[in-house]
Amino acid sequence: MEHIKNFWAAKPQYKEVEYADQRDKTFVVTGGLSGVGMECARLLLKKRARVVIVGRNKDFARDLLSELARDIPEGEAAFVELDLADLESVKKGGQEIARHYPVIHGVVLNAGTMAPPYAKTKQGHEIHWGTNVMGHHLLMKYLEPSVLRAAHDSPPGTVRIVWVAASSSTLIPGLEGSIRFNTNNEDEKKPPHVLYNMSKTGNAYEAYLWSKFHPHSGVSSVSMDPGNLSTNLTRHSGGLVHRFKDYVLYPAKFGAYTELAALLSPTIKDGDHLVPWGVPGTLRHDVDEARRGPKGEEMWIELERDTQAFFQPEEVH
Ligand SMILES: NC(=O)c1ccc[n+]([C@@H]2O[C@H](COP(=O)([O-])OP(=O)(O)OC[C@H]3O[C@@H](n4cnc5c(N)ncnc54)[C@H](OP(=O)(O)O)[C@@H]3O)[C@@H](O)[C@H]2O)c1
Repeated sequence: MEHIKNFWAAKPQYKEVEYADQRDKTFVVTGGLSGVGMECARLLLKKRARVVIVGRNKDFARDLLSELARDIPEGEAAFVELDLADLESVKKGGQEIARHYPVIHGVVLNAGTMAPPYAKTKQGHEIHWGTNVMGHHLLMKYLEPSVLRAAHDSPPGTVRIVWVAASSSTLIPGLEGSIRFNTNNEDEKKPPHVLYNMSKTGNAYEAYLWSKFHPHSGVSSVSMDPGNLSTNLTRHSGGLVHRFKDYVLYPAKFGAYTELAALLSPTIKDGDHLVPWGVPGTLRHDVDEARRGPKGEEMWIELERDTQAFFQPEEVH
């Protein structure tokens, strides 16, 4: 239902003009080399922030950084190479970010893959789960000290972690909590969109679980649905969908307005879920219930177990 409603979302209300100057603040945006993430990075740079773009295409990043420096000199963009589908690469990139950015005021966990041909990550986890959920889970473990340091010196709730979910998690009928994980869907060759939707539901679980397992952190951890947007996400969805996307879907920048609201709007609280274009919304009732109960806890424990071997933080001086 949410997915259908998103085709007729009201005009964006939270645009760049609403937000204060972000000079001296550092934000991390995963998947910031394209689509919604790139638009979010641009909006933050225009507010004079320092933005660490996380992605896996070094050559493209070099060109983008030159373009950003030329077009938005008031901001400061940097790039860290990191492949979320390889926990060894997440470790290396996570260590690099922690080393260079000891204070981080906001993280947008935006990168995502949707419906490629069935594949597994480097460590053998189903590709959607491994990339969208597990890769981000491990990355957040590396970013945690920097985020907690920022929260320590900032007004409560203003340091944020934004988990980019989707309305599509509501499209899995008959599955209580909209998710089924056991050994990361390893041998369950479900249709790719079901695997994608479960991973996006996983992102919504994580938003709640992060705060549950970091009580009194002062950080607001929120989930959001960026809307129905014309981006490269549909690259594996067949020619027709990809060809007509610009006629039926909204521009990527609209999704970035929701990310910006999740990051900066003063009315957002820990545990909120935002919908297009940056307004408070609700998750499907059973999804919200399940993430608060044993199913959510089980998911967190599994993610901790599966990423543990790759979590080797360096000492930051
Ligand atoms: N577009 C929509 O209508 C829509 C709707 C609901 C939710 N979302 C969510 O919004 C977020 C942004 O997607 P988008 O629409 O902007 O699509 P997009 O342009 O395809 O952006 C996704 C980004 O994620 C990156 N990524 C994918 N796999 C990665 C990996 N293994 N390691 C590092 N980065 C990786 C991609 O990099 P590469 O180019 O290297 O693959 C790309 O930069 C996603 O989480 C998506 O699930 C989008």
